[in-house]
Amino acid sequence: MYSFIFLIVSLINSLDQCFGSSPSLPPGKPSSGDILFSAPLIHRSSPESPFYDPDYTRAKHIQDGVITSVARSRYFSQLSALAKDYVAAPLSGWNLLMKYTLGTPAVTSYGIFDTGSSFTWIQCRPCVHCYKQGNYTVFNPQNSSTYRQVQCTDQEYCSMAPGHTCGSNNSEDPDFPFCVYHTSYRDKSSRGVVSTETLTLSAENTSRTMDNMVFGCGHDNHDVSHSPGIVGVGNQSASLVRQLTVSHFSHYVFANGTHIRGVAHFGPGAFTSDVGMTTPLLPNGYGVYYLNLTGISVDGSEVNLPAGIFEKSKDENGTDVGFIIDSGASYTMLRGEAFDILVSVIMDVMSEYTPESTEHFELCYRDISDAPEVVFHFNGLDYMLCDANLWIRHSGLYCLAMIRLKESEGKVSILGFHQQRNVHIGYDLENNLLSLVYSGACPDDAVDFLEG
Ligand SMILES: *[C@@H]1O[C@H](CO)[C@@H](O)[C@H](O)[C@H]1NC(C)=O
Ligand SMILES: *[C@@H]1O[C@H](CO)[C@@H](O)[C@H](O)[C@H]1NC(C)=O
Ligand SMILES: *[C@@H]1O[C@H](CO)[C@@H](O)[C@H](O)[C@H]1NC(C)=O
Ligand SMILES: *[C@@H]1O[C@H](CO)[C@@H](O)[C@H](O)[C@H]1NC(C)=O
Ligand SMILES: *[C@@H]1O[C@H](CO)[C@@H](O)[C@H](O)[C@H]1NC(C)=O
Ligand SMILES: *[C@@H]1O[C@H](CO)[C@@H](O)[C@H](O)[C@H]1NC(C)=O
Ligand SMILES: *[C@@H]1O[C@H](CO)[C@@H](O)[C@H](O)[C@H]1NC(C)=O
Ligand SMILES: *[C@@H]1O[C@H](CO)[C@@H](O)[C@H](O)[C@H]1NC(C)=O
Repeated sequence: MYSFIFLIVSLINSLDQCFGSSPSLPPGKPSSGDILFSAPLIHRSSPESPFYDPDYTRAKHIQDGVITSVARSRYFSQLSALAKDYVAAPLSGWNLLMKYTLGTPAVTSYGIFDTGSSFTWIQCRPCVHCYKQGNYTVFNPQNSSTYRQVQCTDQEYCSMAPGHTCGSNNSEDPDFPFCVYHTSYRDKSSRGVVSTETLTLSAENTSRTMDNMVFGCGHDNHDVSHSPGIVGVGNQSASLVRQLTVSHFSHYVFANGTHIRGVAHFGPGAFTSDVGMTTPLLPNGYGVYYLNLTGISVDGSEVNLPAGIFEKSKDENGTDVGFIIDSGASYTMLRGEAFDILVSVIMDVMSEYTPESTEHFELCYRDISDAPEVVFHFNGLDYMLCDANLWIRHSGLYCLAMIRLKESEGKVSILGFHQQRNVHIGYDLENNLLSLVYSGACPDDAVDFLEG
């Protein structure tokens, strides 16, 4: 009985927060402009996902999510120092997927929807090595009449691919005279032929077909994700978004417990330009989405953070510093100094409650009904995190769904996926702006997200 009442109270609290102090617009349509076309999104581990694996427990999700979030920060911190053509942003098995069709006749496929990278690839036959991708058969380009391999001489397409090389003209190189791409992160990698193919996105009664989408046909793939591949929606020329020649897109993912699904919209209507709902995207050469986080407040009081802790810059050793919005990191990562201050301020507000911690999260409580309101202040946009986005249920506790980034790991902080659920996130690549609009719904899954 107690837990039932508590559930209701928390739900009302969180709805109150989301409706009360935040801009609310009808779900599904962030603005009245044109949405040209859409594509379905689904979380790999949502029960409706074709890649759902009942043995992949919630504890394992969380663990993988934490490891990946740290790895993403480390990767983004080293981007300017790494051979950026060769490496790929690290991903876990715990990711958001986009559904699309490829080839003629069209075959359904899925790729991790990744705002932190710009190249799209899928596993392709024949496989030198392909990992298991749920029950999905690997794409066979031989069955498609519109599949083409990109020749080395076609520099326009070849140069779009990460780590692109051309084989040498001898019998030992089966790929010659085609252009070969190679992405890798530690033991995870994909290598194959840069190719073009017909790609179609359809959802919500819209459909868009693009001929000659440049993508990677991966013949040698190792342990990347257990999903067929990646859909890169970063801001480099190979990005799906750039190839679709739209300058606005958005994603909206509704999360209710383990059920996590949504939609990506493309076209001017995907973005809202309303005052107070947009913040600049800071241009950079890596196609990632830097934001200007100017402060954080707790219950209306600004937290006293060290000056410039999230400012986009480089330190004396060439390490990148800044704050990125990233769909591939599961949880928000904050540089240690900022994280520690935020945690101590929340603990002060919650002084009547005993703080605890778990293996993965540093600040947890048994009861968060008196938890403070936390707002991230971006230049021009205040983002208030509702309870479901701020907290996560872990080991019987409610934990702050943020991770402390050690200085030795990197200096790029991240707004992670957990904090991007239940809001419309729009990208305007013409004017370099991000918009953030509440959907008017924020189920308190800190409460109903049961432990598995
Ligand atoms: C995948 O195949 C296995 C074995 O045939 C089956 O038990 C499982 O339900 C299938 N999963 C999906 C999502 O179709
Ligand atoms: C695709 O090609 C393979 C052999 O390359 C064949 O076994 C398979 O039946 C084909 N699938 C379709 C749908 O035509
Ligand atoms: C590869 O080498 C062979 C033999 O030297 C030559 O005939 C052929 O034209 C070369 N192919 C290309 C694409 O350069
Ligand atoms: C799609 O079209 C059907 C039939 O016209 C309609 O009932 C449905 O509401 C439409 N869905 C969307 C998302 O527009
Ligand atoms: C969330 O999930 C619960 C349990 O599956 C369900 O009863 C409820 O209707 C869902 N809420 C929404 C808003 O979809
Ligand atoms: C995106 O790429 C375009 C074209 O290179 C560039 O003009 C723009 O500044 C970039 N935006 C960001 C946020 O990187
Ligand atoms: C730069 O690297 C040196 C040597 O590893 C280290 O001592 C120093 O603290 C680093 N500087 C910063 C700003 O991290
Ligand atoms: C970030 O926002 C602050 C406050 O509006 C502004 O002073 C600063 O110039 C901005 N930084 C960048 C890199 O745009």
